[in-house]
Amino acid sequence: MFSLAGFLELMDDEELDEPTKQEFLDQMREQVTRLTKLASDLLDLSRLDAGRMSVDREPVDLARLGEELAEEFGPTARASGHELELEEHDGAVADADELRVFQIGRILVENALFHTPSGTAVRLRALQREGSAVLEVEDEGAGIPHEQRDQLFERFYRLDGTRASGSGLGLAIAKELAELMDGRITIESEPGRTVFALVLPLGAGRFYRENAPAPALS
Ligand SMILES: Nc1ncnc2c1ncn2[C@@H]1O[C@H](COP(=O)(O)OP(=O)(O)OP(=O)(O)O)[C@@H](O)[C@H]1O
Ligand SMILES: [Mg+2]
Repeated sequence: MFSLAGFLELMDDEELDEPTKQEFLDQMREQVTRLTKLASDLLDLSRLDAGRMSVDREPVDLARLGEELAEEFGPTARASGHELELEEHDGAVADADELRVFQIGRILVENALFHTPSGTAVRLRALQREGSAVLEVEDEGAGIPHEQRDQLFERFYRLDGTRASGSGLGLAIAKELAELMDGRITIESEPGRTVFALVLPLGAGRFYRENAPAPALS
């Protein structure tokens, strides 16, 4: 907010040339985006603390959700020089709240794009494993030291050397939302390969791949 106020003051200068003005506006837009995200993250945490975050139970097609995530983050991935793709897998239907699963997916994809070097790949997968529905986000970054894996889920925690613009709230929110849906988030990591998996109860619902013919109703 401080920096935003500073730019506002600077914008008041009538002598400002057009390119500088545009640069200030870009900076201000970025600050507003960050503030909006922070406000909405803090609101979510307050709701969670107050027990006021309600979650629906509905069949959620994780492969379709992965597809939408890949589409949504396509431009961001291109801008940061990442290859982002949904890997073909068997898919899975979770018994969960679609909007909240999206929210967790966004947190994980954003991390995979933000905390790894440009030129690496990020892959999404939807699959069934051991009676659960799983959405995986895999990246090719430096990896996460074993002893810090639990701490990542604490509020405001960030690894040393992490790009400083985040608040360290994403994974804390993701974990609490997953638990509200009787799910969890697991980490598998080694240098060059990190997989965050959202593990959810398997849904009873059926799902249809977009191009597959819908089965006849009996
Ligand atoms: N895929 C990843 N690869 C490497 N480090 C990661 C990855 N995801 C998360 N981290 C580490 O975990 C920390 C916590 O992540 P978290 O999403 O909670 O916060 P953040 O990304 O720093 O900020 P924000 O609140 O904007 O999400 C990050 O700061 C980063 O150090
Ligand atoms: Mg994050």
